[in-house]
Amino acid sequence: MVVSNDYSFGTGPCLFIVLLQSQMCMSERETWATRTGFIFAAVGSAVGLGNIWRFPFAVGEGGGAAFLLVYLLFIALIGFPAILVEFVIGRRTNLNPVGALQSLATGPWRYIGYLFLVTGFAIMAYYSVVAGWFVRYFVIGITDGYTVADPEAAGALFGSIATGLDSLLYHTIFMAAVIGVVAVGIRDGIEKAVKFMVPAIIVLLLVLTVYGATLSDAGLAYEYYLSPDFGVIIDQWQTLLPLAAGQAFFTLSLGMGVMITYASYLGEDRNLVKDALTIIGFDTGIAVLVGFAVFPIIITGAGIEAAGEETVNAIFVSLAAAFSDITGGRILGLLFFGTVALAALSSAISILEVVVSYIIDQFDVDRRPATAIAGGGIFLLGIPVTQDLIFLDLLDGFVNGILLVLGALLLVLLVGWMIPDAGRDELAKGITDIGKRGDIWLWLVRIPLVVVLVVTLALGIEGYFEFLTGSFSEWLAS
Ligand code: TRP
Repeated sequence: MVVSNDYSFGTGPCLFIVLLQSQMCMSERETWATRTGFIFAAVGSAVGLGNIWRFPFAVGEGGGAAFLLVYLLFIALIGFPAILVEFVIGRRTNLNPVGALQSLATGPWRYIGYLFLVTGFAIMAYYSVVAGWFVRYFVIGITDGYTVADPEAAGALFGSIATGLDSLLYHTIFMAAVIGVVAVGIRDGIEKAVKFMVPAIIVLLLVLTVYGATLSDAGLAYEYYLSPDFGVIIDQWQTLLPLAAGQAFFTLSLGMGVMITYASYLGEDRNLVKDALTIIGFDTGIAVLVGFAVFPIIITGAGIEAAGEETVNAIFVSLAAAFSDITGGRILGLLFFGTVALAALSSAISILEVVVSYIIDQFDVDRRPATAIAGGGIFLLGIPVTQDLIFLDLLDGFVNGILLVLGALLLVLLVGWMIPDAGRDELAKGITDIGKRGDIWLWLVRIPLVVVLVVTLALGIEGYFEFLTGSFSEWLAS
């Protein structure tokens, strides 16, 4: 563990506070047990429900290949520079996100970290409910197998699970697991679990992709997924843009300080650019593979319209039907839903860890009570979601359309415009010859990133307002 001595941002009493805080968090929080621990933990955070559950329905909402194209562009041009912004803040300060921003920024900017805590609470509340559904499907594989005769039966099965007591039970189980892991500390558990999970997910997705390729409508599915209609991009950019940007931030765990926290345990000899590329490569590769696996299954099972319906249930319905169809489907399904539940666990842990590490540092309480308080609050906030799916839209729209984008925008403005030299310096550490690449990164951060984020935020707020005055008020009235 390297504790940086380079606190060039504080002097006098401020320096003292920074050192004190960093020691407090160093003694309480994990350090990477191996050199690759950081990569594994960051990949574990990034790869989760965002890739396997949210990505396919975002593709569906965004018109198939048109969405995929915009999404990939956003990952490369927005996600990549943005993840580096979080990395430099974390490694520069060696602090939790709240402390990091207090030490780096001045004026109102010092409070950005608090926004992350709110975001963490909001994400976790519904993330846990959806993860609970995956656990439930895993359990179905053990008890009954996936014996649904047709898509309707599969839909009815999902309906009986998604809301009500069942949902509440599995939300409770999942939250208990997250709280359990975070309460004990996460050094060994996470690193080891992720080393098994990531390869397992890739292998299972490849198996499903091969199965999908044998289906009758595979060709149609690939066309839907891979050949973009540029007309759609031009006509619908106002929906596509916030959807793709929100998905890019969500899937890379950006906009709420996870990557700041994880990078705060890094030594100065790591090449941040290389690490960022590795993490993004895994995350994007897995998401793209998910599309190859599920669209042939969805479209063959329920037609092309099914792919386009904006549904949170598509993956459950279509895959349960597929697993009931194929030989060995029960084992395959068990493995699939089980691994996704594990992937969700490693992501959920990263979210809760941000909140918990802050509570520990700030209020000087032990890890266990801190985890119980934060986890308990999140559990309560998730309860409405287990009872009515409108609350899922209420939280997901708010988080993806507004909170994550706002968090990312504030960080980007800070590093790009207020402390650019510190950012460039930090990026260069661990890189033999960074040349002009530091400046190119800074200019990407300063202008394109800011523009995209501002536009996305405006559209996100507008979209959310429409939701509140539209479906949500209809729901309230009914
Ligand atoms: N990236 C994770 C996924 O795709 C979810 C996640 C974990 C996340 N930590 C986050 C999303 C922080 C936003 C912010 O499932």
